[in-house]
Amino acid sequence: MSTMKILLTGGTGQVGYALQRQLQGLGQVLAPTRAQLNVGDADAIRAYFRTQLQSDAPNLIINPAAYTAVDKAEQDHATAHAVNAVAPGVLAEEAAKLGALLIHYSTDYVFDGRKEGAYFEDDAPNPLSVYGRTKWAGEQAIRATGASHLILRTTWVYGARGGNFLRTMLKLMQERSALNIVNDQFGAPTWCHDIAAATVQLAQQWYIAGKPAWRDTVNLSASGRTTWFDYAQAILAEAQKSNPAFGLHGQAPVLTGIPSSQYPTPAVRPKNSMLSHQKLNAQYGITMPEWKTALQTCMREKGETQEQDA
Ligand SMILES: NC(=O)c1ccc[n+]([C@@H]2O[C@H](COP(=O)([O-])OP(=O)(O)OC[C@H]3O[C@@H](n4cnc5c(N)ncnc54)[C@H](OP(=O)(O)O)[C@@H]3O)[C@@H](O)[C@H]2O)c1
Repeated sequence: MSTMKILLTGGTGQVGYALQRQLQGLGQVLAPTRAQLNVGDADAIRAYFRTQLQSDAPNLIINPAAYTAVDKAEQDHATAHAVNAVAPGVLAEEAAKLGALLIHYSTDYVFDGRKEGAYFEDDAPNPLSVYGRTKWAGEQAIRATGASHLILRTTWVYGARGGNFLRTMLKLMQERSALNIVNDQFGAPTWCHDIAAATVQLAQQWYIAGKPAWRDTVNLSASGRTTWFDYAQAILAEAQKSNPAFGLHGQAPVLTGIPSSQYPTPAVRPKNSMLSHQKLNAQYGITMPEWKTALQTCMREKGETQEQDA
């Protein structure tokens, strides 16, 4: 494993930070900051590969960097497009030149959520938002280069740092006595720690197999299914168990389930975010943890350390 040379973007994000920790045993990891590598600037990406990586070219590029402010993207199309649609293609071009594998992350938001049942990787995309459209364009840009790649589609990511539903709920639960939570969108909250762990397993498989060219798209989300409302209830239950670490002071806010029509947002979300794990299980032998078990583990760690990353 010692000769794996990994370039990691977005190392300050939820998935990127978890990856920085978990990739350490795998090889040399280079994780440039945004100031060192601004993926929103295609020329800067090309220049970075030309100037910074000449003597130490990576054989694996992992790209969790993304414009993830889903509602803000509705107004900031240009930045979302540069980071989510253009950058993945440029990284793939550079990967192709080096013969490296590009591991990239995408989202259930490439779908419209109207399907009954879980989405398979080859179901037809129909994104409802700017974010979803730019992420889908990023996937297509990667495929168009012919580079060796693995696109991992995930859902509802959370962890002990960054902006996510878990952290928002914990804050609101301290501040408010009642909360209305959407109860008609279905998905699987996925701990960034588990995404990183599965990514490491996939990278190991690729390396042990002799670094073959991979051109695949694989769903990678937690097992099980829930709604935002049930997810919030699980957060509250775990926070109460770990009280006082979460500052609820014994007071449980009343949670009420509401339809998404009563919680309008600038970006439309898919009603069904469920992704099938058939390929992940059968082809790659990976089973993702159940969402509630993972949530409890994450919150126990957070309760113990407060500021520790997931
Ligand atoms: N969050 C979710 O619920 C969710 C759901 C489905 C799929 N995904 C996908 O999963 C992947 C990881 O998401 P995440 O939640 O870990 O994202 P995140 O926490 O929002 O982190 C995004 C990362 O991208 C970096 N970044 C953004 N613009 C950049 C730029 N111009 N140049 C360099 N770096 C830049 C950020 O750097 P700064 O710290 O400097 O801003 C940060 O490190 C993404 O592909 C996302 O689309 C996420």
